[in-house]
Amino acid sequence: MTIVALMKIVAVAINKGGVGKTTTSKNLATAAAAAGFNVLLLDMDSQENSRKWGTRRTKRNPYKILPLVKFTTESSLPEEIERAKNAGCDLVIIDTPPGRSPESVAAVEAADLLLIPVEADDQDSFDAIPKTARNPSFWRPQQSDAE
Ligand SMILES: Nc1ncnc2c1ncn2[C@@H]1O[C@H](COP(=O)(O)OP(=O)(O)OP(=O)(O)O)[C@@H](O)[C@H]1O
Ligand SMILES: [Mg+2]
Repeated sequence: MTIVALMKIVAVAINKGGVGKTTTSKNLATAAAAAGFNVLLLDMDSQENSRKWGTRRTKRNPYKILPLVKFTTESSLPEEIERAKNAGCDLVIIDTPPGRSPESVAAVEAADLLLIPVEADDQDSFDAIPKTARNPSFWRPQQSDAE
């Protein structure tokens, strides 16, 4: 029997800064790589914190448990995803910028799973959840929204 594993895409996003998107992305990517999965971490934040971490880790990590880390923009995202699929990648994790951005919208649209990190004692975090999760491709303003 042939088992065909389908690549999964996880977006880590919230319309809020500094709540742990990059930390969650890096840790998940590393844990999945350590578990033997072929992992690509895509950094869509122009701060490039994940990408810089990937470069440092490649230089220093003695265990060679490495998710591949690349920076990408919303216009290059579809081609990066296609390339990862063709390369036999198991899991793509996307770290996104703070706030609502074309990058975070593209990541949410591309994802099979959306992870929204929140600070447990911060109401702003919770208020940002519906704005982040609302997928523009299936959500359109209804007549009742305007009333
Ligand atoms: N689970 C956690 N517990 C405690 N501190 C955390 C946790 N996750 C992240 N942090 C700390 O919170 C700070 C912000 O984390 P991080 O850079 O991951 O947030 P971010 O959402 O990616 O920020 P930005 O919006 O600027 O990209 C860092 O100092 C990080 O070490
Ligand atoms: Mg970040």
